[in-house]
Amino acid sequence: MISKAEFKERRSKLLSFLEELSKRDDKSYKFAIKSGEAKNFSNDVFYPFRVDSDFYYLTGFKEANAVAVFDPNSEHPFTLYVEAVDPHHTIWEGHREGLEGAVKNFGADKAFDIDGFKEENYPNHKEQELTKFIHTLRSVKSEAEIALMQKSADIAIQAHRVAKEIITPGIYEYEVEAKLNEVFRAQGAEGWAYPGIVASGENSCVLHYITNNEKIEKDDLILIDAGAQYQMYASDITRVHAASGEFTQEQKDVYDVVLEAQLKAIDTIKPGSGFQETNDTVTAVIGEGLKNLGYIKDALDPNQIKKYYMHSAGHSLGIDVHDVGIERKVSKYVPGMVTTIEPGIYIKEKKIGVRIEDDILVTADGNRNLTEALAK
Ligand code: GLY
Ligand code: MN
Ligand code: MN
Repeated sequence: MISKAEFKERRSKLLSFLEELSKRDDKSYKFAIKSGEAKNFSNDVFYPFRVDSDFYYLTGFKEANAVAVFDPNSEHPFTLYVEAVDPHHTIWEGHREGLEGAVKNFGADKAFDIDGFKEENYPNHKEQELTKFIHTLRSVKSEAEIALMQKSADIAIQAHRVAKEIITPGIYEYEVEAKLNEVFRAQGAEGWAYPGIVASGENSCVLHYITNNEKIEKDDLILIDAGAQYQMYASDITRVHAASGEFTQEQKDVYDVVLEAQLKAIDTIKPGSGFQETNDTVTAVIGEGLKNLGYIKDALDPNQIKKYYMHSAGHSLGIDVHDVGIERKVSKYVPGMVTTIEPGIYIKEKKIGVRIEDDILVTADGNRNLTEALAK
């Protein structure tokens, strides 16, 4: 769990930054951030609410229709506007923290009914600077966050293992999806960190395939891209299996190139190095591999490579699956950052889609693969 003290420390950093900005510009800035609104599913039915990630990071509060206000010049520097406890809501939806809970359980210096919040008091001045500050904080994970991310990874590893066991020609992609879901929930995860991908045959070449409705055929590869959300933290793992239990030579050749690219890319992850270096490593190995296998003529031509490898080496991971704070072109790795490494090759005409994805924590002396325990 993230302790109340840790949430408070995050807020203190934000308040200090607001003070700095205020001094710099000779203004007195305050900052408001919303938790978000539940999205409509149909008529008067709503999707389960997922709180805004920055709002959650600063408050730990997960209810809809709340606003947090930060004002270093106020005697109540951290104020929460929340929905008041209401008997009708209690009957239909259950517990709500209300004003009392906001103070007692979430450390607000003062709480007000959301009905009294006046948005016009918060003109949009420094959104970019503040967002960047919060995202930079979020990009470096604390010990407690890393522990949650490891747990999220462990649940996803278990789900991938169980799902692999049921793969056999003739079953449907959704049966594998259901198995993954079963393990996520049985292990105490909130559920998926993103819509899961169970893609057989040609579908394995669709990068964000999520329909998961087709039958798995004898010679198919099955690409499973599945990660859990555990106490708000994401894991994100991809593995590829052969329906028959054995890869054809052609499938194996492609798999080996992706695996080599992935392992070499992971080796680039250490403090001081950066995402651009990781990306370049992947592109170089894949270019060379595609040329050796006869799929392209020039190993260094980005346009030829792009035909079979059309995304980047990975993305930051945290409260969001595509997390914030690592700018691909410029960021250097810092201990505590977590990034996925997920090269892939997609050859649609041969129904070969291979992506291998692990979650890598930057450490003081290199990196630790949070999803290492899952065979590849
Ligand atoms: N699961 C989405 C991704 O790998 O980026
Ligand atoms: Mn990913
Ligand atoms: Mn993924």
